[in-house]
Amino acid sequence: MVLTGKRILLIIGGGIAAYKVLILIRRLRDSGATVRCILTKSGAEFVTPLSVSALSEQPVYQELFSLTDEAEMGHIRLSREADLVVVAPATANLMARAAQGLADDLATTCLLASSAPLMLAPAMNGYMWAHPATQANVAQLAERGAQIVGPDAGDLACGEVSLGRLAEPEAILAAIVERLAPTAMPLAGKRILVTAGPTREALDPVRYVSNHSSGKQGFAIAEALATLGAQVALVAGPVNLATPPGVDRVDIESADDMLAACRAALPVDAAICAAAVADWKAEIAPQKMKKSGDGLPVITWQQNPDILATLSQGAQRPGLVVGFAAETQTVIAHAQAKRARKGCDWILANDVSAERGVFGGDANQVHLIDGEGVETWPQLSKTEVAARLAERVAAALSAT
Ligand code: PMT
Repeated sequence: MVLTGKRILLIIGGGIAAYKVLILIRRLRDSGATVRCILTKSGAEFVTPLSVSALSEQPVYQELFSLTDEAEMGHIRLSREADLVVVAPATANLMARAAQGLADDLATTCLLASSAPLMLAPAMNGYMWAHPATQANVAQLAERGAQIVGPDAGDLACGEVSLGRLAEPEAILAAIVERLAPTAMPLAGKRILVTAGPTREALDPVRYVSNHSSGKQGFAIAEALATLGAQVALVAGPVNLATPPGVDRVDIESADDMLAACRAALPVDAAICAAAVADWKAEIAPQKMKKSGDGLPVITWQQNPDILATLSQGAQRPGLVVGFAAETQTVIAHAQAKRARKGCDWILANDVSAERGVFGGDANQVHLIDGEGVETWPQLSKTEVAARLAERVAAALSAT
């Protein structure tokens, strides 16, 4: 509830991306903000006043000359009683009119009458975005203090692939929180690498060896870090989990792939290795191995690269490197030895004996080991472990 007490005036422009703004309203409400919405005439072609009103739990304002709206709120109060004005999607037309200082509808009138900070999340066709007229308008608005969030590159509704997609609701929310509650985002501006899930090591074109890691612990960590404002690069083995909001995810299969993806993500401020990386890889048979009489196949094993140890060394070593130690006996002593051997700063030891149900389960009990000693955390949900760890990472990075 980091935005409790904050009032957002959200102006919804007319673009296909307006549907994403419904998610933004939901996220803002979940964060404790009061959200009042102005739905432009063209915005109402894409989302209905009813859905905007239901999600914001407020009346929706549409008309400049509305007797009801004026009696209830009045456009001057609407623009003044806001800690932040957000325009999303900010269309080329809306930004052009705002840059000109027009006041020919409720949205532009409120923009002109407002003294609150302004945030624009543009969305449009890539050529429209790149057009010198649009760029000049955006530059003029930015010069006057407007903060521009996005646009992103990707598939556009018009079928083209270019810069012009509305920033994801989570990214807009993060920008809003950073603006209105900066202390709630202690990891803003920090880039953090997280590994999660198992790796798969092929034996032949149809078989592999792997382990039971579900990725839940690593994904929870990625989400907790992103919630504190970090830019998170998540390198994930094969798992069945949705990408946490606002996290950049790269999917990999083998330990070699994971190492390459981690290297590509450098430099980062911190790295957290929660993945259960296979220690060995097989010499892969080019064709499916065949049963031959009573003989068993001969598999030649090689050592896999150690990603945690690799990240802990070298010129691009992150300021903070954190590993996990999956142990089934003498948990703390083994984890301490692992920390020293691999050269990471902290290691979180967890007992992965089958009866503990840590692999694949929703709870975990960890011991945080650093150069000072051992701190034993109680049994917690993986989400709570992640939240605690993210707070610790934020404290450590702010101290450097
Ligand atoms: O995915 P879940 O179902 O949520 O389960 C969570 C978990 C049990 C997988 C997680 O909490 C955990 O313990 N992850 C580390 C698993 C592991 O491989 O531990 P390890 O003790 O074998 O390795 C020690 C550290 O070295 C780990 O940070 C590991 O990512 C890293 N490592 C290991 C081998 C290797 N070749 N490269 C590595 O980077």
